[in-house]
Amino acid sequence: MQRIIVIYLIFPIVLGAEWNYLLNGMDWPDLCATGDQQSPIALDTQDSRILITPRIYFGDYDVPLKGPIFIKNNGHSIQMDIPETINGMQPFIRGGRMEGSYLAKGVHFHWGSPNSKGSEHTIDNRRYDAEMHIVHRNAKYKDIVEAVEKEDGLAVIGVLLQIVEDPTDIPTGLTKVINAVVNIPIDESNTTIPAGFTLDEMIGDINHNDFMTYDGSLTTPNCHEAVIWTVFTQILPVSYEMVSKLWELRDHWDKKMMNNYRAIQETNYRPVYHRMGNA
Ligand SMILES: *[C@@H]1O[C@H](CO)[C@@H](O)[C@H](O)[C@H]1NC(C)=O
Ligand SMILES: [Zn+2]
Repeated sequence: MQRIIVIYLIFPIVLGAEWNYLLNGMDWPDLCATGDQQSPIALDTQDSRILITPRIYFGDYDVPLKGPIFIKNNGHSIQMDIPETINGMQPFIRGGRMEGSYLAKGVHFHWGSPNSKGSEHTIDNRRYDAEMHIVHRNAKYKDIVEAVEKEDGLAVIGVLLQIVEDPTDIPTGLTKVINAVVNIPIDESNTTIPAGFTLDEMIGDINHNDFMTYDGSLTTPNCHEAVIWTVFTQILPVSYEMVSKLWELRDHWDKKMMNNYRAIQETNYRPVYHRMGNA
C-alpha cells in the first residue's frame, strides 16, 4: 500500500484515469518516454531527402460516404469513424512509401487555443493552427489492435490547417464535421451527421502530391511505433470561426479541450523524405 501511494505521488497524472496534455505529453510513460521513433517531429523541407517515388493513390476518396457518420468527443479530441462509401467500399490509400493498401478508418484533430497554435508537426519551424489526421490501417491486419503492434501497421495522412482572414473554398465535408462538434461538447458524448460527402471533401484542393514522409508513432499513448507518416506540405486555409468551435469543447476533466498536441520528438537520425510534385 505504502509503495502504491508513493508511486502515485510521483506520477499522479499518468496513473490517473486518463492521460492528458498538461505537459503536451512530456510526462507520458513507457514507449512514449523510451521510444526512439516517436512522432510528431520537426519537418524541414531543406534538410530532408528528396524522394523519387510514386504519388499516393487515394482510392474511393471521391465516392460519398454512407451515413450516418458517427462522431465522438473522446475526452482528448473529436473522432470521426470513416464508414464505407455508398458503393460498399472502404476508402484506402496506396503508393508513396507504403506497400499494399491501407484502409481509411478514422479522422481526428489536434488544435491550440485562442492564443496558441496547435498543429503537431511543424514545417520549417513553423507551427500551424491545427492538424487533421486521417488514420489508415494496413489491409493485411485484421484490426487496429493488431496493426499497432506492427511497424507497417498504420499510415496516417496529416493535413495542417491555418486560420486566414477570408478563406475561399473551405472543404465542405470538413465544414460539416466541425459544425457538428457543438453537439458533442463533453467527454463521451457522440452524435451522427448525414453523409453525402467524400473524404476528398474533407481535404479540399490542396496538393496531394507534395508531401513529407517518415516512419514514426502514434502521438497519443501508448505511442506505438507503427505509423508511416505522410504530411502534406501545402497548408489548408480555414476560418477563425471554424477552429474556434474546437476551443469550446470540454475534455475528460471537464476542462476546455485546448492545446491537445504532443511536443516535438527527437528525429534520431531517421530518414525524412520530401516528395515534390504538382497538383
Ligand atoms: C453515444 O451516446 C449515447 C448516450 O448519449 C450512449 O448511450 C452510447 O453508448 C454512445 N455510443 C458510443 C458508441 O459511444
Ligand atoms: Zn492525431
